[in-house]
Amino acid sequence: MAPSPREADPELQSEMNIVAEAVEKTIGHLLPETDLAENRLFQAMRHGTLSGGKRLRPFLTMHTANLFNVDPLRARRAAAAVEFVHCYSLIHDDLPAMDDAKLRRGKPTVHIQFDEATAILAGDALLTLAFEILSEPETHEDPRVRCELIRSLAKAAGCHGMAGGQMLDLIGETEEFDFGTISRLQRMKTGKLMAFACEAGAILGKGNEPHRKALCNYAFDLGLAFQVTDDILDVEADPQDTGKDTGKDSQAGKSTFVSTMGKEQARNRAEMLVHQAIGHLKIFSGRAEMLERLAYYVLERRA
Ligand code: IPE
Ligand code: IPE
Ligand code: MG
Ligand code: MG
Ligand code: MG
Repeated sequence: MAPSPREADPELQSEMNIVAEAVEKTIGHLLPETDLAENRLFQAMRHGTLSGGKRLRPFLTMHTANLFNVDPLRARRAAAAVEFVHCYSLIHDDLPAMDDAKLRRGKPTVHIQFDEATAILAGDALLTLAFEILSEPETHEDPRVRCELIRSLAKAAGCHGMAGGQMLDLIGETEEFDFGTISRLQRMKTGKLMAFACEAGAILGKGNEPHRKALCNYAFDLGLAFQVTDDILDVEADPQDTGKDTGKDSQAGKSTFVSTMGKEQARNRAEMLVHQAIGHLKIFSGRAEMLERLAYYVLERRA
């Protein structure tokens, strides 16, 4: 039985640590130090990927892959690819032209530690490396599976996904969005990559359509709840806990769940979304317990 939403969950925490350690090992192998003249780029990529982070998306990939009995070594490669795209999105999100943030995961952001041009290149290189990893036979022997992973990640990260969501997010600094538009923005900005993180496990394991649909619905609700709590944390958390600058959304005049509906209602909405997310997992008859626990964690997280 998963603990009730407000209890700490040491079992989940320990499982999150196991996933973080495993994926960091894979990232370390994929991004070795080099003595090439361009080592600065590798250092920036390592700084952007190996300086902490909750590794939620790798957790989703590893645990959905487990539902389909996928070899964990393959799942780890897909998990690293999702995390690379996520880290690239954070490096670019923190740039002065976007959110202009100086702190990330408790460390200076990549453009502060290095410089803006290096941060742009580190983001570019992580994005492309993610697709390179997915295209390699070590990820899956069936080229159709590799191709599906690549197409699905491209859709999640591109103009109909994360990049499109980031565009709306910036437009939302000067235009006031209604609830429907904010939901669409957040679904694109955050939900689509989380949905890929879940779908990747099902793609690797050649899961059936109802299972895929259930995971996709779970991820969309989880992603929205996650972004609602992110918006709340921006208003009320301490940078010591989140490891990133807070108060940035209101400073920039961004349209967020909190700015449209207030903290209280936003919190109720997150609770509703988390229960809805868990409801989608019924099809797995109790085998998706870690995904259920993660949904409660998203609601209660302080970082
Ligand atoms: C932060 O994501 C960016 C959003 C999508 C809100 P996370 O809160 O998952 O960041 P890390 O990976 O743990 O640093
Ligand atoms: C950024 O959202 C999400 C992506 C990078 C796609 P935020 O701007 O709210 O993320 P934080 O708060 O800086 O982590
Ligand atoms: Mg942003
Ligand atoms: Mg930001
Ligand atoms: Mg935020």
